[in-house]
Amino acid sequence: MSRIDPQIIDQIKQVADIAEVIGDYVTLKKKGTNLWACCPFHGEKSPSFSVSPAKGIYKCFGCGKAGDATRFVMDIEGIGYPEALRHLAKKYGIEILEAEYTDEQQEAQNERESLFLALNFAKNYYHNYLFESEEGQNIGLTYFKERGFNEATIKSYELGHSPKLWDGFTKAAVEAGFSLAILEKAGLTIVKKEDEADEKSKERVYDRFRERVIFPIHNVSGKVIAFGGRILKADKNQPKYVNSPETEVYHKSNVLYGIFQAKNAIRTANVAYLCEGYTDVVSLYQAGIHNVVASSGTSLTQEQIKLIGRFTQNITVLYDGDSAGIKASLRGMDMILEEGLDVKLAIFPEGEDPDSYVQKIGSEAFIKYLSEHSSDFITYKAELSMKEAGNDPVKKSQVVREIVESIAKIPDSIKRSLFLKKTAQLMGVAEEILIIESNKYQIQKQKNKEKEFRRPNETPNQNPDLAGLESFDENGASDENYTIHAPRYENIYFQEQECLRLLLNHGQLIPDPQQAPSYTLTNYILDEIEGINFETAIFQEILSEIRSLFEKEKAVNANHFHNSLNENIRSEVISLSFEKYTISENWNKLHDIHVPTEIDKLSEMAFTNILRLKKAHNQKNMREFKLKISQASDTVEQAKLLGYFMNAKEIEKELSKLLGTVVLK
Ligand code: UTP
Ligand code: MN
Repeated sequence: MSRIDPQIIDQIKQVADIAEVIGDYVTLKKKGTNLWACCPFHGEKSPSFSVSPAKGIYKCFGCGKAGDATRFVMDIEGIGYPEALRHLAKKYGIEILEAEYTDEQQEAQNERESLFLALNFAKNYYHNYLFESEEGQNIGLTYFKERGFNEATIKSYELGHSPKLWDGFTKAAVEAGFSLAILEKAGLTIVKKEDEADEKSKERVYDRFRERVIFPIHNVSGKVIAFGGRILKADKNQPKYVNSPETEVYHKSNVLYGIFQAKNAIRTANVAYLCEGYTDVVSLYQAGIHNVVASSGTSLTQEQIKLIGRFTQNITVLYDGDSAGIKASLRGMDMILEEGLDVKLAIFPEGEDPDSYVQKIGSEAFIKYLSEHSSDFITYKAELSMKEAGNDPVKKSQVVREIVESIAKIPDSIKRSLFLKKTAQLMGVAEEILIIESNKYQIQKQKNKEKEFRRPNETPNQNPDLAGLESFDENGASDENYTIHAPRYENIYFQEQECLRLLLNHGQLIPDPQQAPSYTLTNYILDEIEGINFETAIFQEILSEIRSLFEKEKAVNANHFHNSLNENIRSEVISLSFEKYTISENWNKLHDIHVPTEIDKLSEMAFTNILRLKKAHNQKNMREFKLKISQASDTVEQAKLLGYFMNAKEIEKELSKLLGTVVLK
């Protein structure tokens, strides 16, 4: 139960700008009145995730996720409603009087929230220890300063220090109200039997991070999800870095170190520099190069590339110049190409990594070095291999083949053909040969894909548009049409959906202000369809809600449903709230043509929809009568049903006639 003041909640919702909130996670592009991006909830290469800033809602037409700003934060961070409000309050500098950690801890809605709270507590603990304790100042801070990190940088990355104690942190956290179980699940505390073979032996409880400098790892919105701790003195018996284990909130392969601090710079520069280590990121940041992230020692993953892809299409890989770094860069390069992003690579002189090199030559020279030494992948591969192969023709053909193999991974065919051309020029090989070679890989890839994706039929109800609706036969009242077949049946679905769309988007408008000045569209439609229940369960649910709302307060609008707890209702209503036609804003100006908007023809649309809706329901009745007639055992029953059928047929004719008189479009 949230104890956040309702007035503060209102304030948060007023201030939270959906485009800004979602912009923390993905770059949105304007198209028509809405903003679009590749959906951050499911993998996709062309955008079907849409945001309406005017309505304050989002909807993915691919996976169906939908809601308002608060809902977005809940879904993307996997946290509950109050915690999402806190998140937004923090973003917009709105003060919520925070309870003690203890209470907050009790209030946490789910385990993820508890973990976030514990990790945040740990981050503050280590950060304060760095600045406030004697050990932190003398050892940790001195270490960072020797490495050239100034205080602003240390604060940007919230670096810290863990004390030279077995359980200094754990004690402090328990005192603050965190349970051992949560601390263990957060990867902060280790609980171990003294004698692992003996069930009954005493448990030992100690901190995972001891006597190390601490690099907190943030997710894209700035929540701390894990830590890396670097040893302070060379010790061959201990790993250089101790890292958090995988936890419910930390999946190493989905995370890039530095993405939170870098994302805006990546957007602005339209390129991300990808390094290997924590210190590379921090050093480059310190040198004024902010668009930098690291894969943190793991080999690059598809998820990490997708994460960068939310902010830019361009990656420059800055890996060490040693052979391990080069190998890793080649692997990463192919994966980046496969994801459809553009990749460049820069090699550093032997023995240098981005951190050491930028410290050695300074930021200006470093940027100059990058611009002179980053090459596209073809050149990179060609140069690299030529160094090894020399002029050996067999080796050379091997190099060509490898380059073509990389090119074949690019999803975009135009890009592919441009790169093939370039390779042909650079390597002195006929382009046609390369095309044939590339096609071979292409065909193989297609075959593999076909094997992989054999999905069962999917239900065909994803937001059909009016065009599909227009193709239905309005006047065909011949009996053959009453047999049950799909389009007829779907007609009901479309009409019900359209009816709700009109209600939710324009319900408060007055179709005929002269004749009936207080008769809203909602009023009109609900009167007209009184007694009709919708066939589609979810539509009926929404309709009932509209009906009861209308009885209570006479006003209905889509906002009421935007944060509905029922995911299906929310998704359905929000897709109905999106404009059907995105008319270019310039159209009027440019062509001086008045494009009639929905509102201009609202009355006709509502009138037509009601007729079609009734007609669809009537046709369904006719089908049922017909079926019952054929099944009826006695003639009296049959005659009665036939009467119903004839009656329905009359209605059908009436409705068709009425529909024939309205010209829509
Ligand atoms: P590096 O050895 O290049 O570390 O490993 P670094 O970041 O450059 O650190 P300095 O400059 O020597 O202080 C690159 C990355 O690999 C991971 C870390 O994420 C590190 O930043 N790593 C390395 C580990 O996780 N554990 C290790 O023992 C070593
Ligand atoms: Mn280093």
